[in-house]
Amino acid sequence: MVGQIPPQFIDDLLTRVDITDVIDARVPLKKAGKNLQACCPFHNEKSPSFTVSPEKQFYHCFGCGAHGTAIGFLMEYDQMSFPEAIHELADSVGMTVPTSHTIAPNPVKQSLYDLLDKVSQFYIHQLQTHPKRDLFTRYLKQRGLSSATIDHFGIGMAPDGWDNVLKTFGGSQQAIQQLNEAGLLSSNEKGRTYDRFRKRVMFPIRDRRGRVIGFGGRVLDDSTPKYLNSPETPVFHKGHELYGLYQARKANRKLERIVIVEGYMDVIALAEKGISNAVATLGTATTPEHLRQLQRSTPEVVFCFDGDRAGREAAWRAAENALPLLGGNHQLKFMFLPDGEDPDTLVKQYGASVFNERVVAAKNYSDFFFESLESRVDINSLDGRARLVEIARPYLRHIPAGVYRDMFEQRLAERAQTSTSVLHKHLEKAPETQAVIRKPAPVSTGISPVRMAITILLQHPELHAGVGEFDKIATLSQPGSTILVELLETLHQHPHLNTAALLERARETEHGEHLKKLATQTLDLSPKELQHELIGVVEQQQQAALKLRHEFLMAKGLSQLSQQERQEIQQLAMRMKR
Ligand code: UTP
Ligand code: MN
Repeated sequence: MVGQIPPQFIDDLLTRVDITDVIDARVPLKKAGKNLQACCPFHNEKSPSFTVSPEKQFYHCFGCGAHGTAIGFLMEYDQMSFPEAIHELADSVGMTVPTSHTIAPNPVKQSLYDLLDKVSQFYIHQLQTHPKRDLFTRYLKQRGLSSATIDHFGIGMAPDGWDNVLKTFGGSQQAIQQLNEAGLLSSNEKGRTYDRFRKRVMFPIRDRRGRVIGFGGRVLDDSTPKYLNSPETPVFHKGHELYGLYQARKANRKLERIVIVEGYMDVIALAEKGISNAVATLGTATTPEHLRQLQRSTPEVVFCFDGDRAGREAAWRAAENALPLLGGNHQLKFMFLPDGEDPDTLVKQYGASVFNERVVAAKNYSDFFFESLESRVDINSLDGRARLVEIARPYLRHIPAGVYRDMFEQRLAERAQTSTSVLHKHLEKAPETQAVIRKPAPVSTGISPVRMAITILLQHPELHAGVGEFDKIATLSQPGSTILVELLETLHQHPHLNTAALLERARETEHGEHLKKLATQTLDLSPKELQHELIGVVEQQQQAALKLRHEFLMAKGLSQLSQQERQEIQQLAMRMKR
């Protein structure tokens, strides 16, 4: 955790380390203007979109969206923990991490991993030795799983009973607390605590490195909930993890393709039939984070959905989430199964080759995209085609600018029977495209001035020097106001922080991820314009805050005001520009 190593040390470290050396030692970089470039180590590509900025001390891949500081790079590339990465960097520049902070990497998380691993072994052991194991082994057999597959996925059983895990692992108050933190316990309103997983087939969920981070448990009959999953814990985040990714990477030296299915049992049933490249989300929709991870592991992702209405809708949601990740050398495809089938039932009934044929025949992203949109309009009428342009427009701007987007626009023009130039005229009228931040994937809609100011400060911290007063801004309850003020205050106290240091300070805060994204946005303005913009926004925000307070006091009516408030009004009036 960040708290363990003083932020000051990390600031210093990041000014001594040069990210270009760190990365160049692992991925040879070539000069490209003021930046350096390489083919991205986090996804497959033929032309380089991985860029390292010596100025910002930051890397960013325009293809897969990977980005971060030197610390982040080591964590991702060498799979180090945060403290490990700090130690590695400190060693490389001859700095010593303050001694009280040199102990084990993140002990809290580490002990959770240890506990989850032991509990997983316990469930496996139960499946081998429990007196009532037959019920479970029979179930697994009926589902067609061999013992090799059961081993490969570490499948186990939670016996019937309220306290099997609690009794075995909850020897002390502290141990119980930890079981709870690992998501292994539940409690009722009376405060009674008991095992979360009872009488269920247990599927350990592993992270990319193979560590057990949580469980899914399935009932043996038709009772509900059919699947029970671990809750969010410090080591388990549903929106980030993919069931089976570790096994898929282990089973394939090079993953040419990954198929993403809906259920754990689908992943396992496919593996049973020799299809070892399937993963599943953990009962959630596919998030952009999922997709980024997949794109680092493989050049082609195939979404596999049921052919029914729910499956189509889930597919469309996945397609929307994928927009910012389109292009580069990645393929995204969609396949739909016959109504009533899932991958498990399909491979069981028809075998692996039938499933594989369907995978190979999967629809291209763009075909699926246009078919879905066109099914909502009457493409044969002028009105329908105009409508098509209207409904496609909000999606297009989420696609990173580049060849892919150009071709998308071209296809839209063709389908709407117009030309790209007419289309462009139309697209550019949309206020969103007027935003100053362009090039790489503006992920959300129009950019607010505050967000713009935050982005400028992050990327050009030295520009904070020209900024005027900002003491009232935090009183505006606008999104981002507090972040802006925090950044300004930090830079006021530590004027020499660079982008990387600012980001590391925000790591693990609520908005850390958000700031990292802003740091990757391209600002198409000259340094002078940037400074002008920044100063302008801060002043405008400060003025708005002064005005708001002034209005508030005035609205009270003169007779209601205290002496102090009257003075405040005068001061406010003096500070307000007309
Ligand atoms: P399905 O209901 O399609 O189950 O849920 P399945 O994968 O076909 O399971 P089997 O074949 O009956 O064993 C798909 C996925 O949705 C999540 C699980 O991740 C499951 O694998 N899910 C489903 C839950 O989290 N809870 C539930 O109660 C049901
Ligand atoms: Mn199923």
